[in-house]
Amino acid sequence: MKRRVAILISGRGSNMAALIDAAKLSDFPAEIAMVISNQPDAPGLVTASQSGVPTLTIESKRFGKDRAAFEAALQTALDQHKVELICLAGFMRLLTAEFVQRWYGRMLNIHPSLLPSFPGLEPQAQALRAGVKISGATVHFVIPETDAGPIVMQGAVPVADDDTPETLAARILAVEHRIYPDALRLVAGGGVRLEGDLCKAPANVAREDVLIAPGPVSPL
Ligand code: GAR
Repeated sequence: MKRRVAILISGRGSNMAALIDAAKLSDFPAEIAMVISNQPDAPGLVTASQSGVPTLTIESKRFGKDRAAFEAALQTALDQHKVELICLAGFMRLLTAEFVQRWYGRMLNIHPSLLPSFPGLEPQAQALRAGVKISGATVHFVIPETDAGPIVMQGAVPVADDDTPETLAARILAVEHRIYPDALRLVAGGGVRLEGDLCKAPANVAREDVLIAPGPVSPL
């Protein structure tokens, strides 16, 4: 039986689209049961509808500061669609600790940095300010702390001297579109187990050996 997944978005939805595409494969262990947006004008809603995935808008603005009421509406929708797993994909609203704990081990997020480095806003600009030579993206289980939680999968990219936040974001986004579907396949297929704060994937082996940046360095 395929696990029933809800994708939560707030905007563009390119990671959502990657997940929807992957889930079309007959051997994929999850199906996208619905896409929920907290923003009525999220472009991702159109993409999802065009792919034949049911969409729902629960406008967070309508609930003001009442996060519990927003999440009650969210939970009702998830129950109605018998959702078993949640994927946050550019979902830009903080969830309460209570909601997060209820979904612990069943809710994933993707963040465009190699966590625990650079959580929060503008992680690509943070990476450039820190001068790191390698950055990337992380898929992790969600815990109450923002952009933290047991790490399921990471993908790395080199950072160039002349990168801007935009060029780095584009390079990282391409990796996001690879690792989010792979991480969902792993989790939905029962390929991971949570051990305290850590996520272990027993059958996991690195696909590519090593990434060194900058490189290669020629002799002087
Ligand atoms: C993605 O880069 C995602 O990693 C990031 O928002 C973007 C959404 O793009 N999420 C976060 O920063 C979460 N802290 P998308 O709507 O095209 O998937």
